Amino acid sequence: MSHDEEISNKSGNRPFDEVLGVYASRRKLLVGSLTLAAGSFLSGGSAMAAKGGKKGPNGPVGQFREGLSNFTPVPVAEGSGPMPNIAEEYDYQVLIPWGTSINGGPSYDGDPLTRPTSQEQANQIGIGHDGMWFFPKNRRSNDHGMLAINHEFGDNRHVLPAHLLDEVDRGGQTVYLPKDLEATRRSQHAHGVSVVEIARKKGSWQLLNGSRYNRRIHVNTEVAFSGPVAGSDLIDSPWPMMGTVNNCANGYTPWGTYLTCEENFNGYFASTDSNWVADEMQDRYGINARGFDYGWELHDPRFDISQPGNDKEANRFGWIVEIDPMDPSSRPIKRTALGRVKHEGVALTVGRGGRAVAYMGDDQRFDYIYKFVSLSNWKSMRAQGLSPLDHGSLYVARFNDDGSGNWLELTIDNPLLAGKFATQAEVLTYARVAADLLGATPMDRPEWTTVAPNGDVYCTLTNNSQRTQANGANPLAPNSDGHIIRWRDSDKHVGATFEWDIFIIARDTHSDGDERTFSDPDGLWADPDGRLFIQTDGGQKKGLNNQMLVASIFDEGAPGELEVKRLFTGVSGDEITGITVTPDRRTMFINTQHPGNGDPAVTNFPAPQGSNKIPRDCTFVITRKDGGIIGS
Ligand code: FEO
Ligand code: CA
Ligand code: CA
Repeated sequence: MSHDEEISNKSGNRPFDEVLGVYASRRKLLVGSLTLAAGSFLSGGSAMAAKGGKKGPNGPVGQFREGLSNFTPVPVAEGSGPMPNIAEEYDYQVLIPWGTSINGGPSYDGDPLTRPTSQEQANQIGIGHDGMWFFPKNRRSNDHGMLAINHEFGDNRHVLPAHLLDEVDRGGQTVYLPKDLEATRRSQHAHGVSVVEIARKKGSWQLLNGSRYNRRIHVNTEVAFSGPVAGSDLIDSPWPMMGTVNNCANGYTPWGTYLTCEENFNGYFASTDSNWVADEMQDRYGINARGFDYGWELHDPRFDISQPGNDKEANRFGWIVEIDPMDPSSRPIKRTALGRVKHEGVALTVGRGGRAVAYMGDDQRFDYIYKFVSLSNWKSMRAQGLSPLDHGSLYVARFNDDGSGNWLELTIDNPLLAGKFATQAEVLTYARVAADLLGATPMDRPEWTTVAPNGDVYCTLTNNSQRTQANGANPLAPNSDGHIIRWRDSDKHVGATFEWDIFIIARDTHSDGDERTFSDPDGLWADPDGRLFIQTDGGQKKGLNNQMLVASIFDEGAPGELEVKRLFTGVSGDEITGITVTPDRRTMFINTQHPGNGDPAVTNFPAPQGSNKIPRDCTFVITRKDGGIIGS
């Protein structure tokens, strides 16, 4: 979801565009010498390739031209309209559209006159398909496993039938609000997470309806808190501990669990009292009297921010939540050591000494990139009954002009923070405010992060229409199309410094006639061979629908010259998001979110065109016709 919010970062910290401007002018001078220096950041990929490097399934890992990616890109001319398009060497299959029954009850099929009831919706796949991960049933199983999938959001007019909507004028704008508690619960149950058992039978993937693993997790599901904020009065609201919401992207752990990330949680809280005003901390998280017009506050007082104690309820959202897909009776656990921001996603890797290291973006204009490092080796921590995600250090990134960077620790031991906060729990609950004080670098909406096989970390910065400062060396003002940054951490991901570089600037890919064109990078995943899958969410150039492209981390081109191949295009009005594969990487799952923005006049997908069905979010199962690795 591309939510256009006001800027809540008023810290005055030096924004990234200024840093980049200076860096870009330096880079012209530095790039020549650096590419010759073996082991340096800019030459890392090519040094590996030159040595023959790691072997991939298609030969030595190298640039595209050495065989990493041999498919025929979807031409610009074919990447639009009401139906998806995929490269000619590939096939796709539709799986688990919104409304698919998971526990044996009825399914919803897109009938424009009805919608799922709250009870039905709690036993069906939700809407707003986003981050997800495939957990093989047996360790290497390629045709059977659990799919954990996020349902980020659903518009009231899409989720609710007309008779359950109130048409209301709010500030000169017509909005559609739930009429009663049943309507509110329908909306609530459409959001959240699904865990479902899926398998390939006779060549086709299907959900195993009624499996004991199948469950829905939503804002009324019992949850637990863990880490420094658990037990703190900061989250001591009058309500039972329930729920996760606006589940955007995701991560997964080496111990086999799913991580779901709470992004725009602020939009679900609103005030029924017109005199209510947000305090400084709420304002920094975008909590305001109106919210995003979901209208939950009208019938469910838990989301009325003006009610006593509900400031603490709002503090219960904005976390990364761990879910065990193999234990349907387990409670989701909010891992508070990872900080409270608008979590887009999390990329977890194993750093020096076996520490769990998590990279995370906070998706709002001028917000930050974070890193968490566990206290010690994740295996020994778990052997002692400790979660590696409960004990460790949280850092925020500062990008310096010279291509270096610093991880600034969010700790109460820092006098800069001790002057503002009383406890580490406060620092973590108001991590954005702590990061402001430390001088973190405001970024252009950090979305997904991924750790590539050479250890470099990539992060999509989707766009920033409100960037105003630029200089001759910086082509990004305003940054309407976004870019992808990468960095190499020191000391195998546990150091306090890093080196950074720009991988690609989206605007550089759409000059006239350029078939590489894309904008607004969002979903991102680096596979073990060095393919970088890029998914988009925003207005694409040349009439294209949103899309998934493949680049190579070993491409030596300048940011404007990288090869980028279009593997898939979605349907009108959607975004492409979510990415996971089977262990053999011969099956990939991706999603279309908000196809046609819910309008059957735009597309009926996944129902046949010309039917009267409303379009529904769904998953695509992608395979190569020759059975090859996806992306090859
Ligand atoms: Fe949920 Fe920032 O995308
Ligand atoms: Ca987005
Ligand atoms: Ca996103």
